Amino acid sequence: MPKTYQKIQRALLETPRTWLVTGVAGFIGSNLLETLLKLNQTVVGIDNFSTGFQYNLDEVMNLVEPVQWQRFTFINGDIRDRDVCQHACSKVDFVLHQAALGSVPRSIEDPLTTNDNNINGFLTMLYAAKEAKVKRFVYAASSSTYGDHPDLPKVEEKTGNPLSPYAVTKLVNELYADVFAKTYGFKTIGLRYFNIFGQRQDPNGAYAAVIPKWFAGLIENETVFINGDGETSRDFCFIDNCVQANILSATVEDDAATNQVYNVAFSERTSLTQLYELIKERVVLTHPSATDSTAVYRDFRAGDVRHSLADISKAQQLIGYQPHFSVVAGLDKAAKWYLKNLGKN
Ligand SMILES: NC(=O)c1ccc[n+]([C@@H]2O[C@H](COP(=O)([O-])OP(=O)(O)OC[C@H]3O[C@@H](n4cnc5c(N)ncnc54)[C@H](O)[C@@H]3O)[C@@H](O)[C@H]2O)c1
Repeated sequence: MPKTYQKIQRALLETPRTWLVTGVAGFIGSNLLETLLKLNQTVVGIDNFSTGFQYNLDEVMNLVEPVQWQRFTFINGDIRDRDVCQHACSKVDFVLHQAALGSVPRSIEDPLTTNDNNINGFLTMLYAAKEAKVKRFVYAASSSTYGDHPDLPKVEEKTGNPLSPYAVTKLVNELYADVFAKTYGFKTIGLRYFNIFGQRQDPNGAYAAVIPKWFAGLIENETVFINGDGETSRDFCFIDNCVQANILSATVEDDAATNQVYNVAFSERTSLTQLYELIKERVVLTHPSATDSTAVYRDFRAGDVRHSLADISKAQQLIGYQPHFSVVAGLDKAAKWYLKNLGKN
């Protein structure tokens, strides 16, 4: 039986470790940073600010104690740079590798840049971590790896063909991690994230994710578009569940739990029309003008899968993953953050 998240947190408070978080100025990276610093851990972070922001780091600084912030070292650098990766990995216990270019449409428009960051960057980081004899390399994989496989819910062993260049890069990450385990005995865990959402997820730009984009659209009285007929569904997962999965993966003691990939989701299906209504309900509480908003339906988007729902039993059994936040509970927290922070940066 893996230890519970509560037990792991207590153990980390007693015996602090050193962590490397790549993509630390991004959405997931900055949330990992916040939790780790609040647990009195020492954290090294890398980011090149391609899609991350200094203001995410500033917000974390304001949320932790000054003494905790002093345990953070930031490297403004690129994961494609061998020297940067080598330097960042020295004296690190665990790597939580998040840096990558997200977004399926971005990868369709510019597959070369996505490939360079997500495959060359990944391999450079993986190799540096292996050379530095890091105890565990936990990395952001993706539900896009299920591609065209029709089964629902998604179980880790049954993947289909990738439907986008982005999905190819995430599949290649898994292949490299597996080969590093077999050829060098290096310990990795891949986390296939399913539509993570929450505080600090960027609502701006052409490649913004649906939840922050719709919060912003409804708050700012802009047209909200739904791609397809609204019945497309996703397994939306609140960020705190994702942070939990990362910390459990880095610290799990059972060898059988390593060199594996796990679904990270809440295991609940929400259609886009339902999601729109859930977000609108929360926004109208403070912005009554949103009451009259109606979503505009338009064409399906190339590269998107129709339905997505995760079986999370493997993560529950092997790493002790217990997602505490349902979609609704997560949307409540996200709403508070967007209503307070939108338009500030
Ligand atoms: N958010 C989701 O729902 C989701 C779903 C599946 C997978 N993922 C994966 O999770 C990870 C984090 O995603 P996110 O949502 O936090 O995205 P994000 O864009 O907010 O964060 C990514 C961070 O990586 C940094 N970065 C990118 N390329 C870099 C490079 N070459 N060198 C240094 N830093 C670099 C960016 O500046 C950014 O701060 C990514 O690997 C993404 O593919 C996310």
